[in-house]
Amino acid sequence: MNNADLLSSGDYADAVATAARAAAAYYGDGTTTLGDDEYDALARAIAAYEQAHPEEVLAESPTGKVAGGAAEGDVPHSVPMLSLDNVFSGEELADWAASLERRLGWAPAGWCVEPKLDGLAVAARYEAGALRRVLTRGNGLAGEDITHTAGDVLGLPARLAEPVDVELRGEVLLTRAQFELANEIRTAHGAVPFANPRNGAAGTLRAKDRPYRIELTFFAYDAVGLGEESTHSALLERLAALGANTAASTAAAPLRCGTVEEVQRRVEEIAGMRAALPFGIDGVVVKADDAADQAQAGSGSRAPRWAVARKLAAEHKVTRLLGVEWAVGRTGVIAPRAVLEPVVIDGVTVSFATLHNPADIERRGLMLGDRVFVYRAGDVIPRVEAPLVEERTGDEQPIVFPTACPRCGEAIDTGEQRWRCVRGRNCQLVASIIYAAGRDQLDIEGLGSTRAVQLVEAGLVRDLADVFTLTREQLLSLERMGATSTDNLLAAIAAARTRPLNRVLCALGVRGTGRSMSRRIAAHFGSMAAIRAADAGTLAAVEGIGPEKARLVVSELAELSALLDRLAELGVGTRVTEPVLPVPAPVPAPVADAAGVAQAPAGGPLAGEAVVVTGSMTGPLAALSRNEVNELIERAGGKASSSVSKRTTLLVAGEKAGSKRAKAEELGVRVLGPEEFAALVADHLLVAV
Ligand code: IVH
Repeated sequence: MNNADLLSSGDYADAVATAARAAAAYYGDGTTTLGDDEYDALARAIAAYEQAHPEEVLAESPTGKVAGGAAEGDVPHSVPMLSLDNVFSGEELADWAASLERRLGWAPAGWCVEPKLDGLAVAARYEAGALRRVLTRGNGLAGEDITHTAGDVLGLPARLAEPVDVELRGEVLLTRAQFELANEIRTAHGAVPFANPRNGAAGTLRAKDRPYRIELTFFAYDAVGLGEESTHSALLERLAALGANTAASTAAAPLRCGTVEEVQRRVEEIAGMRAALPFGIDGVVVKADDAADQAQAGSGSRAPRWAVARKLAAEHKVTRLLGVEWAVGRTGVIAPRAVLEPVVIDGVTVSFATLHNPADIERRGLMLGDRVFVYRAGDVIPRVEAPLVEERTGDEQPIVFPTACPRCGEAIDTGEQRWRCVRGRNCQLVASIIYAAGRDQLDIEGLGSTRAVQLVEAGLVRDLADVFTLTREQLLSLERMGATSTDNLLAAIAAARTRPLNRVLCALGVRGTGRSMSRRIAAHFGSMAAIRAADAGTLAAVEGIGPEKARLVVSELAELSALLDRLAELGVGTRVTEPVLPVPAPVPAPVADAAGVAQAPAGGPLAGEAVVVTGSMTGPLAALSRNEVNELIERAGGKASSSVSKRTTLLVAGEKAGSKRAKAEELGVRVLGPEEFAALVADHLLVAV
């Protein structure tokens, strides 16, 4: 769509006024009336209108001005602090690179591709290696003195490694962890929480006389006064050597690329890492790397011609909090969920978002009817970040917390941050049994929702272990339960007794573990006894288990201890490997070490491979669930994961493989069809009994 079509001449003045207000708030104290995407779209529409009607351009238009003309300052910059031009797609990026080539008359010798950090630009002046003054960007020509905040900024050392005179330029931001901590500190002081990390960084940098301190992080991306470096990449290395923090310390490290194709690949790579980075990025910056190319290209009044920002869709959007729902999970956890006025974030309509737990709602100071910032990135579950307190009308209502379990009406245990029904798992016994009997857990055919409800209502099943004590008579006493169904169900239950450890562990529905984590824990410990004996420190040795999850798993297992004792007595969960018919070679038996702990088999045709499976499986793999294919990968010595990344070494792509295949091909990852893959792991392709 042509942006110029979006504005009529009547709308133009309004649009300029809205943009000016938003820019003033954004570059002022960081509060904002528009999301980044809305601001960018508005600025583009204004620029398009102005191009078509140059005679109507208003003086207060943000077009072509650093900070949209909103920010000011009283300390002149030594060299203007410029902004960046934006492109919004790979195509626009390629066009920009081509136009730079035309301007230069040659292709730049190299490019540097780095994250566009979502914070505020600052200039830090050092004399003889000592930090003297810190300034905001302001209007690009003069900034505001914020030296008083320097002590709170990580990565901006008071003294550099060498006694140089230099001005470091870079971005100050709140990492995600710093943002969460900042809001905890603020609400503890009765202050309004920050709506998102960028707003928090802006508010913190300009604040004076606060009774509390908030830590920020600096990333250097430029310097004035060093002068000898012949490339931007070398300059960044020098800045890091001087002791400044740079993006080289992160997964999204700046990379020199030789061609525009390589640039595009690195842009996609950094974009793909976005959700996992511990700080926000709003794009990827592409710069001609060589100083000679930069000098030849020169700069305009607002932005250099040798660099461009490939903007990424905003992850934060503003919408309204309409309600809060309280759902009881399988384990009895009572979790609040925000009902939102639907909002599109990065192409996905978001109508619900997690609110974590009641303490989190209080920490964020949310009220019903609030305009809120919602965050969604990659596969992350959308979450409500914080309210826009300045926009309250007075009609907002407090959020009412439940006083009894919304499912069964029993009391709520509010002792932990996550509230739980006092009946715990038993509040959701039917759901727990259905889950445990599911195909990827104990695979008990015939124990679906109808049967589970019958068994629980008849009082025959009060926990999972009871399933294994069911008698023929008991089952026959149930309505619509004939002899054949009964025998089939009893046979399925008998088979479930010998399911391997990972399946039994998964069936327990231990909070913090799912199918793949259960496989890893089972492979690591080898027996239920060893898992139960593990303390948090031992558990944390399993890949993907941090200290917090380790503690949670330990307390879950303790809570399940009576059930686990009963299951052990009934002989459930004592097998270590898959029940299998080897075709043709036998599975290597797990080796028990001195402590009796079985080791996962090492080696195998997939040793060292990181494998992702996508699309529908055909041939010998057709009958396997995704979990079973993942189990197969691990039996064959590989590591199964669900998303394609730089670390992926093999993609198994079945029919209708979509974006994962495209990404794998782009990253040069080996791709096999299901049949080829089945042949590769034939020795481990075992048929479950
Ligand atoms: S280079 C002359 N590199 O984005 C060079 N800027 O939208 C101009 N930013 O004003 C800046 N990460 O505040 C550059 N790696 C990066 C950046 C970056 C974030 C900010 C900076 C700039 C704004 C433009």
